[in-house]
Amino acid sequence: MNIAEIIAWKRDGGDLSARQIAWVVDKFARGEIADAQMSALAMAIFFQDMTIEETIELTSSMLHSGRPLTWPESDRPKVDKHSTGGIGDKISLPLAPIWAALGIDVPMISGRGLGPTGGTLDKLESIPGFQVNLSREAMVKVVQEVGCVIVSASADFAPADKKLYALRDVTGTVASIPLITASILSKKLSEGLDALVMDIKWGSGAFMKQRAKALELAHRIVAVARHLGTPTRAILTDMNQPIGRMIGNACEVQESLEILEGGGPADTRELTMVLATHGLLSVGLESQWGAAWRLVQSVLDNGTAREKFAAMVQAQGGDLKQFRRTFERRPWLSERTGWIQRFDCEKFGYAIIEMGGGRKQAIDQLDYRCGIELLVEVGSHIERGQPLLNILDHPQPSPRVWEILEQAICVSEEPPLVSSGDAPWMLVEQNEIE
Ligand code: URA
Repeated sequence: MNIAEIIAWKRDGGDLSARQIAWVVDKFARGEIADAQMSALAMAIFFQDMTIEETIELTSSMLHSGRPLTWPESDRPKVDKHSTGGIGDKISLPLAPIWAALGIDVPMISGRGLGPTGGTLDKLESIPGFQVNLSREAMVKVVQEVGCVIVSASADFAPADKKLYALRDVTGTVASIPLITASILSKKLSEGLDALVMDIKWGSGAFMKQRAKALELAHRIVAVARHLGTPTRAILTDMNQPIGRMIGNACEVQESLEILEGGGPADTRELTMVLATHGLLSVGLESQWGAAWRLVQSVLDNGTAREKFAAMVQAQGGDLKQFRRTFERRPWLSERTGWIQRFDCEKFGYAIIEMGGGRKQAIDQLDYRCGIELLVEVGSHIERGQPLLNILDHPQPSPRVWEILEQAICVSEEPPLVSSGDAPWMLVEQNEIE
């Protein structure tokens, strides 16, 4: 086969055969296709899209570029959640131990911050000593002993995705539905799951700005994952408001602990419980929504999910006792009276990056402690001089930080059409995505 011909065929709108896709992924993973050629193919796919069949083949080839996990016979099903990333999205932190407390094993491979959205691994590393780079054997051991683990992808898991993602990141080819589908699923299906729950974000804080695009992604991911043998369901989440009040690293761990201790913001608690309930239903640990919901509630109320979180942190080398749960607060006051019309959510993420809590370059060291505590929501009425947010643990934000925050919060004289009383997330019914 000839890579130049394959690129030209896709460029001109042709469908690639299973053999062609398997060949390309194999050669690329071995370093036998040049980065320039793979980038050109990614761009051709970006413009010409792929059929479901092509996306299935791409996902499967990328998945098998590594060594997916296989698990010994066990009565604990394996489930994971993947979010396409949003501002203040700390849901994995309370969700994994909730499932572990309910008899589900969670071998979660997670990521670092991507653009303005924070990364679960960065958040966990704000706990002194926490190790995200575990060997495959150590990862399996923590799952078997504790019931949940959250780690970075080792070289064993979908190495073709790692190489391809690095190229997409610098060639403007990230936002392609088949490429995103194959990228996410090649990693997640490497975990050897019995079921996957997807949280697909749309809005100003997500990389899919349009709900219709997010829905298309949901359809594709669910169809491909199911075809490859992993029952998968998805919910669409409105990311026009951050999730919870805290945005940053350490402060999001703090908010996750609040959820696990029976408190925390209502939206964060609800989204965590919705995803947890879907997990229980998808592996048949419960068949009714209400009963599953009550089970989730019970492990939050009786502290067993909190204990699982502590056990996971300890098993991964972290020391929760050394984790400082209080933050110095510096309020930012409104200069106007009016209504919070909308947020440009991404800007909160860029403000965190500007303060040092996220990366401008892959090698940047993070300031885990800095953060933002949001004190208002869309629809809030505010008075001049009222605090809109607190800057956490950062004594001297630069003028650029304030400039970005100005752009993040849009205040107007009229109340917004959609009030803050509306649900911040929306369920996609299963039949809508099948
Ligand atoms: N996250 C991934 O892992 N891959 C993508 O392509 C986009 C988001």
